[in-house]
Amino acid sequence: MKVLKLIGKQNTSTIMIEKGILKEAAELCRTTCMEMGPSQICMITDTNVAGLYLKELEHRLSELKLPIFHHMIRAGEEHKTLETVAGIYDTLSNHQFGRDDMIIALGGGVTGDIAGYVAATYLRGIRHLVQIPTTLLAQVDSSVGGKTGVDLPQGKNLVGAFRQPDLVLIDPEVLTSLPEKDYHSGMAEIIKYGCISDPELLELVLEVEDNKRITELIERCIRIKIKVVEADETEGGLRRILNFGHTIGHGVEKLGNYTKLSHGEAVAIGMAAAVKMGESIGITKDGCFERLIPILQAFGLPTALTEPVEEVYEAMLTDKKKQGDSIHFVFIEEFGKTQMKKIPAVELKKMMKVLGD
Ligand SMILES: NC(=O)c1ccc[n+]([C@@H]2O[C@H](COP(=O)([O-])OP(=O)(O)OC[C@H]3O[C@@H](n4cnc5c(N)ncnc54)[C@H](O)[C@@H]3O)[C@@H](O)[C@H]2O)c1
Ligand SMILES: [Zn+2]
Repeated sequence: MKVLKLIGKQNTSTIMIEKGILKEAAELCRTTCMEMGPSQICMITDTNVAGLYLKELEHRLSELKLPIFHHMIRAGEEHKTLETVAGIYDTLSNHQFGRDDMIIALGGGVTGDIAGYVAATYLRGIRHLVQIPTTLLAQVDSSVGGKTGVDLPQGKNLVGAFRQPDLVLIDPEVLTSLPEKDYHSGMAEIIKYGCISDPELLELVLEVEDNKRITELIERCIRIKIKVVEADETEGGLRRILNFGHTIGHGVEKLGNYTKLSHGEAVAIGMAAAVKMGESIGITKDGCFERLIPILQAFGLPTALTEPVEEVYEAMLTDKKKQGDSIHFVFIEEFGKTQMKKIPAVELKKMMKVLGD
């Protein structure tokens, strides 16, 4: 079993990775995050994951001899809203859920972001938070690092809080039930880590057959994320490199009403765009675009804008990465080396001309 630690300012996250680890969930919760003795557990999951893993996990956790109840949210990014959060607050309050109790997020990035936000805000913060990510994307990215939040009609993740989970249990076995589209969406974030920090990943992703090396890939991504988050937990600087591909990505994701494209598909488009723009202005080494495209395509990921440039630009402007009239944009100089630039919005618009009409 791989055990990694992320030392945050407020608390430390223990991250454990191993196939089949969920069978030991009760024992691992007991040994890593039961201090201050929670008196009950609320599991938050979505309508798809519930049918697959909820019952078994509740059964495993019954060894803790604590009351367990669950709140099921509707699956899909379009439900990552304050309304969903309010529904969970209702459930918690109906159960007289207390500050020392425990929230367990069981699901993909949407469930994790919502449950994390609830844990950060209900009663001004719940003491125990466990993330059990069930999508590849959540396993390599969203479950680690403590960013939580929900979307507003104006844009993605516009409301949120930082809250490191106490424990993250990553079981690559649950990925066997993941639809291919979602698996590929997670691959986009792995490719992102390859672009910004670990170019070898760009070769490894193409060698992953039948999930055999997936545990290794997950671990490598998490190690990068831990390093970046420990250096800049609240995204004042370095952490922004994790947003590579996300500025334009969020624009296209929004234009598709968060349903047309998966998060990873949107990020794939955003990464291809960032590399193309970078090459056109001489920041990115020539040839990167040509190398990146077939890697993304190997996972069926889109690489070109799905909507007119002008519309993507407008959609991007409501993204919170904009500051005043400037946007922090992440380029790569070459694979493994980023360059962050604060660009006036109008200039960015000009740079985007290379992406089409
Ligand atoms: N907090 C962060 O740092 C961070 C980082 C990256 C992404 N995110 C967020 O993560 C979200 C995307 O996450 P996602 O791609 O996991 O989306 P998701 O949670 O919507 O999951 C995708 C789909 O897979 C289903 N599913 C989950 N696990 C399954 C399993 N094991 N088997 C079968 N089906 C399963 C879900 O029900 C859903 O339909 C976005 O909202 C994004 O903003 C957050
Ligand atoms: Zn992402």
